[in-house]
Formats: sequence, structure tokens, C-alpha cells
Amino acid sequence: MLADKHILLIIGGGIAAYKALDLIRRLRERGASVTPVLTKAGSEFVTPLSVSALSSNKLYSDLFDLTDEAEMGHIELSRAADLIVVAPATADLMAKMAAGLSGDLASTLLLATDKRVLIAPSMNVRMWEHPATQRNLATLQGDGILTVGPNDGDMACGEYGPGRMAEPLEIVAAVDAALSDGPLAGKHVVVTSGPTHEPIDPVRYIANRSSGAQGTAIASGLLALGAKVTFVTGPGDVAPPRGVDLVEVQTAKQMQDAVNAALPADAAVFAAAVADWHVANASDNKIKKDKAGLPTLEFAENPDILASISQMASGRPGLVVGFAAETTDVIANATAKRERKGCDWIVANDVSPETGIMGGSENDVTLITSEGAEDWPRMGKSEVAARLAARIAQALS
Ligand code: CTP
Repeated sequence: MLADKHILLIIGGGIAAYKALDLIRRLRERGASVTPVLTKAGSEFVTPLSVSALSSNKLYSDLFDLTDEAEMGHIELSRAADLIVVAPATADLMAKMAAGLSGDLASTLLLATDKRVLIAPSMNVRMWEHPATQRNLATLQGDGILTVGPNDGDMACGEYGPGRMAEPLEIVAAVDAALSDGPLAGKHVVVTSGPTHEPIDPVRYIANRSSGAQGTAIASGLLALGAKVTFVTGPGDVAPPRGVDLVEVQTAKQMQDAVNAALPADAAVFAAAVADWHVANASDNKIKKDKAGLPTLEFAENPDILASISQMASGRPGLVVGFAAETTDVIANATAKRERKGCDWIVANDVSPETGIMGGSENDVTLITSEGAEDWPRMGKSEVAARLAARIAQALS
């Protein structure tokens, strides 16, 4: 099932490195070829000889090995694979990946690659639960890095909890899923995300609060199912996921033009917090405060991108999904918004400050369709995204 697939396997320094030996066998049994990279710490747990013997391939370990550079440079090595698998992915490797460090061969390959990366984390439960590791995990998931595990269980260090590396066959299944065409293969989805900035003058603007976290997670969720994603984003705080067709904009008008230019699409998801107004009398020069009196801003309405796409006479995407950020009567307001804008679904959420949703990592949403309101339990923004992506795949199938 993995015939002709080429895996670059990075083995980090953890007790679970012994399972990487079995992983090499399992991948090869299924027809994949495996090029192993063993970190210095990894070589404290498994020997270079057993790794290269099991893979029947040259083992790479040192960034500054000139013979290797002459045969195959590290950039080429990072791109020759169909998939990069990191197993075990230690807390240290995850931190290096999240920070974009490249001080050794493994981290350099991970930074230089243009291929998808799957990590199988493995570490002590306290290290896994530490806010720094969880922050790194969120960053990596936002970057489109795939994960498998860790599992709950007894650990080599005597503690119990999440942190055990996924079993080799689970990793093989994740490799298989990462390399097969997802249910959205061949489908094009446009996603808007982040805030828009509407200039007052060259240095000032008005905007909505939005980190872009939910829109970014949705784009990652759609990519994971094989969709081609055009990601039209305002200036959010979260880096756009790798692998999207990225269109960066500032204003609502630019966002509308970018969405129109990206059509046709099978589906469109409008997660952006678009400013409802722009400043009609924006100044080309910085407004000086020593001028007499306070400046008076005149507002003009921005185009409603969601409504205009939902109501297109021809060429409308087959499925149009909007968001409703509400602070009162969430379901009633969102249901009315769905009717008014003419979209197919609305993902409604309560963004009252006490919910902690705005700028937080979790979301509590209700999906509103023509069938009614479906309340989803409170969950991480990436889980909301994965669930929404799966529903979109179902609707487009
Ligand atoms: N939206 C859009 N273009 C706009 C305003 C909003 O595409 N100019 C989209 C958002 O991306 C979101 C949905 O419309 O999917 C709802 O946005 P929201 O700000 O909650 O609704 P409003 O239209 O601003 O309605 P209200 O101010 O009455 O809540």
C-alpha cells in the first residue's frame, strides 16, 4: 500500500527510538523505501548499524559530513522524500521545529523541506503537558505538521499518562493517510481569515479583533483532507499554514477582490472578521494632532463578501459557509444571519469576553444549516476545524 513511496525517517533521542526500528521494518514490508536520519541523541538509544541495516539504506547523521554533501546536499535530502516522519519526536525536536532552529541535520532538514511532515511525539507526561510543549504543538499544528499520538499508558520513567509514542502500526496508518488522496482531493476551497485593516491615514487603521487562529486551523483541516485551498487573509497573528495558495490583503475591498479572483471554487468558508466600515475620508498623509480640533472620521459601508458570494447569480460555490460572532441570542441571531446573507451554513459562536474564545485556543460552536441548529461540544480550534472539514467533505461528496 506504500509501494514506491519514499519516507525520510528522523529518529530522535528518546527511549521510544527502539520502536523506530520496528517502524522501519513495517514501512518496508508495505513497499516503502526508508532513508534514516539519526540524531546524536538518537544514537544513544539505537545503533547506527541496526538502523542502516534494517533500512538497507545509507544513514545520515551529521550536517557537516562533506561526503554526504557531495553525494546529496541536505536541501535535496529534505525534498527527495514523499513524506518526512519524525519518530520519536522529542520535546527538544518539537521545540526546535516550532522555533525554526537549524543547528543540526534533523532540524535543518525539517526547516528546508517543502514536503509534509508527520511527527510521533514521545516524552515524559509532565514534559508533554508543560505549557511550552503544548504551545509548540499548537504552533506546529498551525504550520500544517501532522501528528500521531502520543498515547496514554505506563511510561519507561515509571509515570502514567499521555506521552508514549504511538505504536509502529499506528504510525504506518498515519503515514498511509498522509500519502493517500483525501476525500477533498481535486476540490478547491476558498477560506477567508483574520481581520481587515481599514486605513484612517498611512499609520492608523480601524479593525476587528481577530487572531486568525480559527481560519488558519480550517485551512489546515481542509489541506489535511486533500483540498486545494486558497487562503485569503488579513493581518492575523497566526502564521498561515504551509501548502495553501496564500493571498495576503489589508482591507475588506481587497479581500473581496481576492475572493472573486480565486473563483471558481467548490466551497468557500468565510472565517474572516471583516470590518463592516471603512473610513471614507481616509487621509493620504498622516493626520497631525496639532491641527485645530479633533479629526472627524466619515464611515462608509464595506462590501459584505459572504452575502455577495452567497447571492451570486452564476458561478456560486456549491457550499458557502459563514461565521457568526455574536455576544447575545447566539442561535436566533445566527439563524437570521444565515437567511439574510443567503449562505448554506453558519458556524455560530459566542464571543462574549467571559467565554475566552476570542484570542483563545478553544471554541464553542453551533452549526446552523437548513436542517436546524447542531450544538458542538467546546473543543480546541483545530478540532472544530477538523470536524468542519470532514462535514464539508461529506457535503461535497
Ligand atoms: N463577512 C463578510 N464581509 C463583511 C462582513 C462579514 O464576508 N463585510 C462575513 C464574515 O466573514 C462572517 C460573516 O460574514 O462569515 C458574519 O460576520 P459578522 O461580523 O458576525 O456579521 P455582520 O455581517 O457584521 O452582522 P452584525 O454586525 O449584524 O453582527
